[in-house]
Amino acid sequence: MADEHRQPEVNIGLVGHVDHGKTTLVRALSGEWTDQHSEEMKRGISIRLGYADATLRRCPDCEEPECYTVAETCDEHDTETEIVRTVSFVDAPGHETLMATMLSGAALMDGAVLVVGANEPVPQPQTEEHLMALDIIGIENIVIAQNKVDLVDADEARENYEEIKEFVEGTVAEDAPIVPISAEQEINVDLVIDALESEIPTPDRDPTADPRMYVARSFDINRPGTKYGGLMGGVLGGSLVQGELEPDEEIELRPGREVEEGGQTEWRSVSTDIRSIQAGGESVDSASPGGLLGVGTGLDPSLTKGDALAGQVAGPPGTLPPTWNSFEMEVDLLERLVGAEEGEEIENISTGEPLMLTVGTATTVGSVTSARGGECEVALKRPVCAPAGAKIAINRRVGARWRLIGVGTLTE
Ligand code: GTP
Repeated sequence: MADEHRQPEVNIGLVGHVDHGKTTLVRALSGEWTDQHSEEMKRGISIRLGYADATLRRCPDCEEPECYTVAETCDEHDTETEIVRTVSFVDAPGHETLMATMLSGAALMDGAVLVVGANEPVPQPQTEEHLMALDIIGIENIVIAQNKVDLVDADEARENYEEIKEFVEGTVAEDAPIVPISAEQEINVDLVIDALESEIPTPDRDPTADPRMYVARSFDINRPGTKYGGLMGGVLGGSLVQGELEPDEEIELRPGREVEEGGQTEWRSVSTDIRSIQAGGESVDSASPGGLLGVGTGLDPSLTKGDALAGQVAGPPGTLPPTWNSFEMEVDLLERLVGAEEGEEIENISTGEPLMLTVGTATTVGSVTSARGGECEVALKRPVCAPAGAKIAINRRVGARWRLIGVGTLTE
């Protein structure tokens, strides 16, 4: 059945410098614009993480790679195409001030497409910074889309290709295929799908593992003025990283919420039940990893309003990793600052300095309470839920913005 509904089985990130064509490529592959917030439309840039599902297909009568398509019928053979797999694209914003959003999105990516504009010198600052972030978070399955080839002539395209090759040498993307495309004119979409199929396989998942969801968004879906009896519970948006989730299950959210008691404040986990699950625009009876889920809960919607629970982790009560108000991490600093015009050297982390840390989909600010050699201890402004061994993207304030300076591994 050509239009059979399938839940996405893998999350593929779209990363790269602002305006290089990430959203346009998602549109070419899925038919959906991921920029849907009015502010994004106005400014023409992605601000939040965008999500779009796409069903990749192949024509049974065409040769590879031309057989790959997103169309339900093959024009050349007039045959119905077969489903290869349904994937979900996580469209990260490319603007330099939105690096934290990109980093929290990276926690959900099983692989990524690095979009590089062929009409600009390589690398542009966030081309480099995003690639470094993939490296830090351990995303190794990468495809490079050399976009906007319609804006350059053959010699310029070749020169730009060489620049890309040189730029990725020695990085995690060293062996990634570079596919020349025009996302806007939908040229070489078949080659992109072919590369996704060979480079970004669906990860092996353990369906019996305890379900764990990384919350990237949270919403209050009630219209203003809804009476108490008609209120719908809070909705969580995010992705399952393991296990399967079903309606009626009990879940716990960590770190939960801040409560005040006797003049003291502390964070306590929140428990609720799942009322409904939406995946790929439909209600489903069971959700598995891959793609964005909308999970309707019994939570008071005031708790979920305006992304208030973004960065939390959800799963069956008692199965979640610990909540940390402070932790120690082993630190691995980058050799030089990336994403800046000129790569400055990175100085060691010092006691007392503020850092912005991304752990899973959570972003928090911490103050360094002790720093020695390759280790440091940080007290967090807002706690995070994460297992020991979790990777932490470390950002330092340089000038007016936070810049990626290294990776941490949570030790205790
Ligand atoms: P951010 O999400 O804000 O980082 O930008 P983006 O990388 O998603 O870029 P987007 O897809 O919004 O495209 C930026 C501009 O480039 C738009 O005006 C697109 O129409 C244009 N564009 C994208 N792909 C192509 C292409 O292949 N050729 C040409 N000529 N223009 C393109």
